[in-house]
Amino acid sequence: MTAVENNLLLVISVLFSIYVWINRAKFKLIWQINGARGIFQQPLLFILMCFMLDPKRLLETLRYLRKYFKRPLAFLFGSQSVLYVDDPVMMERVLNSPECLDKTFLQDGFFVRKGLLHAKGQQWKIRRKQLNPTFSYGVLMSFFPTFNSVANSLHSKFSDYLGLQEFNEIEDIISRAVLVTACQTTMGTETNFLENDEHEIAQTYKKLLRISSIKTIKPWLQIDFLFRMTKLYNTDIELNKMAADFVKDIVSRKHNEWKKMNVLNTSSRSTSRIKIPSTTEVEGTSWEEVEVEVEDTQRKKRNFIEQIFHLAENGEITLQDIMDECNSMVLVAFETVSNSILLALLCLAMYPETQKKLRQELHSTFPNGDVSSISGDNLKDMKFLDMVINESLRLVTTIPMALRGVSKDFVLKDDIVIPKGTFIILDTFNMQRDSALWGPFAQEFYPEHFLPENVAKRHPYTYVPFMKGLRFCIGWRYSLMLTKVIIAKLIHSYSFETETKLKDLKFIEGISLKIRDCDKIKFTVSRVRN
Ligand code: HEM
Ligand SMILES: *[C@@H]1O[C@H](CO)[C@@H](O)[C@H](O)[C@H]1NC(C)=O
Ligand SMILES: *[C@@H]1O[C@H](CO)[C@@H](O)[C@H](O)[C@H]1NC(C)=O
Repeated sequence: MTAVENNLLLVISVLFSIYVWINRAKFKLIWQINGARGIFQQPLLFILMCFMLDPKRLLETLRYLRKYFKRPLAFLFGSQSVLYVDDPVMMERVLNSPECLDKTFLQDGFFVRKGLLHAKGQQWKIRRKQLNPTFSYGVLMSFFPTFNSVANSLHSKFSDYLGLQEFNEIEDIISRAVLVTACQTTMGTETNFLENDEHEIAQTYKKLLRISSIKTIKPWLQIDFLFRMTKLYNTDIELNKMAADFVKDIVSRKHNEWKKMNVLNTSSRSTSRIKIPSTTEVEGTSWEEVEVEVEDTQRKKRNFIEQIFHLAENGEITLQDIMDECNSMVLVAFETVSNSILLALLCLAMYPETQKKLRQELHSTFPNGDVSSISGDNLKDMKFLDMVINESLRLVTTIPMALRGVSKDFVLKDDIVIPKGTFIILDTFNMQRDSALWGPFAQEFYPEHFLPENVAKRHPYTYVPFMKGLRFCIGWRYSLMLTKVIIAKLIHSYSFETETKLKDLKFIEGISLKIRDCDKIKFTVSRVRN
């Protein structure tokens, strides 16, 4: 060996020792979780991580890797410690730890980052408390007329969709119906996207999500000057503006209407003067006084926006906050629910026997064949429908994984300490398809997984499509209700078939679950003869 080589070797070992020393808490974690093997597999994991950074392959790569690595799996990516979790016991621990409430910087690439979904720490706590009542049972029940009327329009629209249909066509019409519902229940506005979507709002939201998923997985694109160099940049700016303007218009208009309504109504009731943010000053710095009623027994059932205007009265929230929340609420409500309806339909099309059984349940629940007004009680009666929807949310789960950042050192179990700053990947997609947890039919569409006796056998955190614990989905009941109303109406009157097989589907992580090559999927839609 030459002197140069010797020196180089020395420098490398010194640097490496410094690296290990600086990151000693993280190496300790790896040691505690995966043992000596955990330490030695680090270089391999580093290389694999570099290749996994592709939304198209992420879920498949993870499924493959799970076979070869001991889990939970801890690793270092540069100086970032990451913990990969895919078992119910750890999920429960993480999801209920106040130290794991925050999202990570990776999610900052998400296009609406100002709403509840991305709020951190104390701010999240306050906002969550403010918004919880907006999804109360009573409020949800008041949404049924909207659910029914949109689903009825969709139901009649389907008569234009008989015969062989592209997957994307069906996706388009369903997502528009869900968008109409989301706008109605969030902001109380009638929209007509089912007939036409001239501003392409549905498309705008979809494209924004696609860009968001790219930025999450390739976080360097969150650095402005790097992102500017991509061709996505201009599109992103334009789309963001379209979505924000769409919501801004509605919110301002609604706010004005709401103020007028309250002012007029005060004449006959007890009133008081309070401050609410002015519409002209979006930043919430200027306040104007208006009279609103104090007694509000009448206001129990309101859509989302009217409920938060109410918070604005007390100065708890600004108009800009309201716009951010609405923008984010419409987006999450629209994208997730339309995705889950579409994938449930696809599962039913692939499993005709199950579809038939579901239709029988529908016929016995609605013996006179009238499904135009489905109630909350009807939904409670349909046990098989519940199992079907749960099963599709298990097998083709809408949100395939979640990421959490650790805000303070915390004890995972025994003496294992997860250092502050660690990222935790919660891989629900693979957990919910794991045959060690679900048995022989884990990879099949098998609603019987949700028979009470089978549910009782499992750890409750084996199934977390909406997450559980401290930061579960605020819209979970809403989603299930809307999904069920739409699926019930469609399956009652139309039958769906496809030649696609479950085992041929390849999945993409696109924030919500997407299917690769979905243009190869076709549905055959026909009317059911009753
Ligand atoms: C099938 C439909 C849906 C699924 C599968 C779903 C799933 C989820 C999941 C997994 C989370 C946790 C994300 C994380 O921890 O990173 C979440 C959070 C959230 N979801 Fe949903 N969701 C659905 C529909 C909805 C709807 C319809 C709304 C609103 C109307 C909604 C609003 C939210 C909000 C605001 C959060 C953040 C809650 C918080 O951080 O406190 N979701 N959802
Ligand atoms: C006053 O409030 C009632 C319900 O509380 C509502 O039906 C009515 O339309 C409101 N009146 C005006 C003028 O806004
Ligand atoms: C279906 O899932 C929901 C939550 O996602 C749960 O509340 C319900 O009990 C489940 N139904 C069955 C039959 O397990």
